Amino acid sequence: MTENSTCLILKLGGELLKHEQGRRDIAQAIKRLSSIGPLVVVHGGGRDVDTEMATRGIPKHAVDGLRVTDADTLDVVVGVLAGRVNTQLVAAAGAAGVAAVGLTAADAGVTPVQRAAPYVAADGTMVDLGFVGQPTGDERPELLGRLSAAGFVPIIASIGADSTGQLLNVNADTLAGHLAARLRAFRLLIAGGTAGVLDEDGQTITSVGEELLERLIADGRASAGMVAKLIACREARRGGVRKIEIIDGTRTTSLDGRPGTTVGGSATTD
Ligand SMILES: Nc1ncnc2c1ncn2[C@@H]1O[C@H](COP(=O)(O)OP(=O)(O)OP(=O)(O)O)[C@@H](O)[C@H]1O
Ligand SMILES: [Mg+2]
Repeated sequence: MTENSTCLILKLGGELLKHEQGRRDIAQAIKRLSSIGPLVVVHGGGRDVDTEMATRGIPKHAVDGLRVTDADTLDVVVGVLAGRVNTQLVAAAGAAGVAAVGLTAADAGVTPVQRAAPYVAADGTMVDLGFVGQPTGDERPELLGRLSAAGFVPIIASIGADSTGQLLNVNADTLAGHLAARLRAFRLLIAGGTAGVLDEDGQTITSVGEELLERLIADGRASAGMVAKLIACREARRGGVRKIEIIDGTRTTSLDGRPGTTVGGSATTD
């Protein structure tokens, strides 16, 4: 995929993929979007990971939606995301007639990552995230470009590897925002379980500019997974992605016109 590509990055939250009917619905949406132009799908699987961790008695720690990942947690994350969730989604897309190909960020330079530096949380505390990966910016986009050009739809689980081959857990929004910026996607569509960014009364904030984005994080109206989402949108925006939306992806076979938030404002492109 080249600069100024017409590519759309679709990020799917794990909540949408937990049940068979949800995966079937989302597969229809993928089919529709892939008929318009090149599509790259990135997915999370936070809910499934939580369930598996609870089954194994592993405690969960997260900060601003980023999972603090020790060796046991990494084992679960890799197995659930790159294994079950990715394969089930690829199969559902295949059943809908989409030529879907399952990948992780570790495949052929899709998104090289390095161990994340200690994270400064929204509340100012410093946290060692453990086996969490941050994109290095050394992508080799040929694989995604070739797959798209040949009519395949890459479906990427948010697991990466560093230069030593160590697997790392990457937040799926972080990965999607980064890929959108690096591929110069024209659109980043983040579908999850809420009708976009909600205010303190539970109402959708329909438009978020750069200034409001910072304020939502600073004053705590955005917390947990929404912080990672907004930071990912900021990266995409600064990378020149023109259309960025966080939308409700539940109970629908089409992601057009869903309630949600447009993230815009003054873009700083380099
Ligand atoms: N202002 C807000 N508006 C909407 N959701 C918010 C807000 N602040 C915090 N959240 C939380 O963020 C969650 C979304 O992030 P979360 O990481 O849980 O899901 P996801 O990113 O869609 O899925 P995955 O992590 O599996 O990719 C919401 O379910 C909600 O609990
Ligand atoms: Mg998340």
